Amino acid sequence: MIWKSLSRSVLSSSRYLSIAVVIAILKSGAGNAQTTNHYDSFCFGVCYYPEQWPESYWEEDARRMQECGVNTVRLGEFGWALMEPREGQYDFRLFDRAIATLGRHGIKTIFGTPTAAPPKWLTHQYPEVLNVLETGQPVNDQSRRQISYNSPVYRRFSREIVEALARHYRDNTNIIGWQIDNEMNNENPEDFSDSSRAAFRLWLQKKYGTLDALNARWGTVVWSQIYSDWGQIDLPFPTPAWHNPALMLDYKRFISDSATDYLNDQVDILRRYRPDDFLTHNGVFQNINYYTFSRPLDLHAYDNYPTFKDSPRYPTGAMLTLVRGFNGRFMIMEQLTGPAGQTYLLRTPRPGEMRLWAMQAVAQGADGLLHFRWRSAERGAEEYWYGVLDHDNVPRARFAEFKQEGQELQKIGPQIVGSKIVSQIAVIKDFEDEWVFDYQFLTKEVNVGAVYDALFQAASEQRYNIDFVGPTADLGGYKLVFAPQLALMDDKLAARLARFVKQGGTLIMSAHSAIKDRDNAFTADPIPLGLTNLFGVELDSFQTYQPPSGTNNTLRFDDGCTVPVQVFAEVLHPTTAQIVGRWQRDYFKDSPAATEQPFGKGKAVYYGSLFNLDAARCLLKRYAGETGLKPLLSDVPEQVEVTCRTKGETDFYFLLNHGDSPVTVDVGDGFIDVLAGEAAAASLTLAPFDYRVLKRERPAG
Ligand code: GAL
Repeated sequence: MIWKSLSRSVLSSSRYLSIAVVIAILKSGAGNAQTTNHYDSFCFGVCYYPEQWPESYWEEDARRMQECGVNTVRLGEFGWALMEPREGQYDFRLFDRAIATLGRHGIKTIFGTPTAAPPKWLTHQYPEVLNVLETGQPVNDQSRRQISYNSPVYRRFSREIVEALARHYRDNTNIIGWQIDNEMNNENPEDFSDSSRAAFRLWLQKKYGTLDALNARWGTVVWSQIYSDWGQIDLPFPTPAWHNPALMLDYKRFISDSATDYLNDQVDILRRYRPDDFLTHNGVFQNINYYTFSRPLDLHAYDNYPTFKDSPRYPTGAMLTLVRGFNGRFMIMEQLTGPAGQTYLLRTPRPGEMRLWAMQAVAQGADGLLHFRWRSAERGAEEYWYGVLDHDNVPRARFAEFKQEGQELQKIGPQIVGSKIVSQIAVIKDFEDEWVFDYQFLTKEVNVGAVYDALFQAASEQRYNIDFVGPTADLGGYKLVFAPQLALMDDKLAARLARFVKQGGTLIMSAHSAIKDRDNAFTADPIPLGLTNLFGVELDSFQTYQPPSGTNNTLRFDDGCTVPVQVFAEVLHPTTAQIVGRWQRDYFKDSPAATEQPFGKGKAVYYGSLFNLDAARCLLKRYAGETGLKPLLSDVPEQVEVTCRTKGETDFYFLLNHGDSPVTVDVGDGFIDVLAGEAAAASLTLAPFDYRVLKRERPAG
């Protein structure tokens, strides 16, 4: 989701790149630093910009933060122009004083490395660092995120400022962690610079070894695209017709690897100077495989702005679930506080929603939470993005709500930090499949992101925890696994899926899965590739319904559950599987649409369309019982979200009232109310947008 617009005017530049420099960069960026997991207490606080306010404010800011229960701030991430006012001349004194002031009030610092916004001297003296648009124009530098990860010059400057910072703060005890850069790939998810073009060619050489191999695997014989020199390969600039899908997929892999490489430069430096600090990075944006990207980090961080959605409850829950799966641990680095906007303005949260949405993030596993931002900026690009305090520094309703939240998290945070969401349901998320659909989108009504929202919503409605996991995750602990549109299949993934079912799991795979190999190419084998034995089914044919959407067909299960289908319908040819659903209309009326087959101790279910909300509801209901899933709680009113975090023998239940009316929940006996520190009533009433955290020891066995 790119939701910030980038100034796109021209800055003339001459760009030059030596291959030797690129090789050096690619090698040096190998960055396999190990995670140290020095994240051990629940951080609560704000993003703070001391450089934007008179120093006379700072003491009072810190005092008020402390009063609100703040124990951590993030600062520094846009301060490079102050930290290095002239090339090679560093000055961290402003940040030294701010960190010390906060420290005197018991507030620790997460330092944001400032490389998302270089100073003017850098972009003007070294214009080759700029990100370039697909038109070939370098971006204008009057904003942020205007750089190329693959510019050797930018890589040098970014390493130098981070090393200077790390060296300067080597012994500072108020700093506990580092946010590397800021929201990589937000605002600049692609880069058509000469540096990236050269790096792409090297990346391909490394991957394919020879041009013959690349030509064969990309199928360049089509349209006379056979390459006889690496220099003939280009980034996917606009062309008269469309691009080779193999190139498009490698291009996305390359962007992701470039971002990861750039991140690892900073990981290596910070681990060297500050081995006890935790490292993180904030954001989820296009063209990054976060399962590999976040591997060297202690935890991933997400910037949570629910008002980007009209009805945020389920899509936000789905995003939080996704982020939780990246490396197993996450925090919120920026949580929505009030009205928010740049050139636009989103809806203002109703009283109570700010705190509710913060607690939703905690309920879904966040191990820390900072609000964006402490005070609304008077000037500059962010003046419509409201903080805890208004521009005039007067504490109003948001301050009171923030203070309540902070005081509550002072009690809840230490108890739940490090606890895990234990789920018996998983959904496989493979970024490479998403990238296939980015280019070959089928019809504009195919929305693969919405599939994850639908599966999350169905699980949440039926009161189950759910995980989203990467394609190499261990599935052993799950009972039910959904595999949505896994377009690309390989032998290892096929074997992992078969093993999961053999050992007793139920696997439900959707249409348009296992149709191609990892080259993004079709093969001569029957579909689903490598899985026809597991499912006992082969793809016969399919229909792609064209927009505008409507219910074009209906899939009816043998238990009577029906699913309206808008876009995609596959006709299945069962070889050994049993038919459990059939199409209701069209020339393939009554043809097999869903099948199941026992395999080993488990079951393989093939669903012949893309999962939508109705499908997710039917399938979950159908297979929850027979796989022995137990809902977290029963008879909970619809407007209440339920999750459970587990630590040792203790289960922490979160009940969140997303409705604007009070609601009563009969939880039964045996719970302790974590905030009240006493036994909870068996029947409790939640005020509008209110929540409770209840805990109980798990009965033995
Ligand atoms: C985030 C970004 C922040 C700030 C915030 C509100 O995307 O990391 O720096 O811009 O949005 O706009």
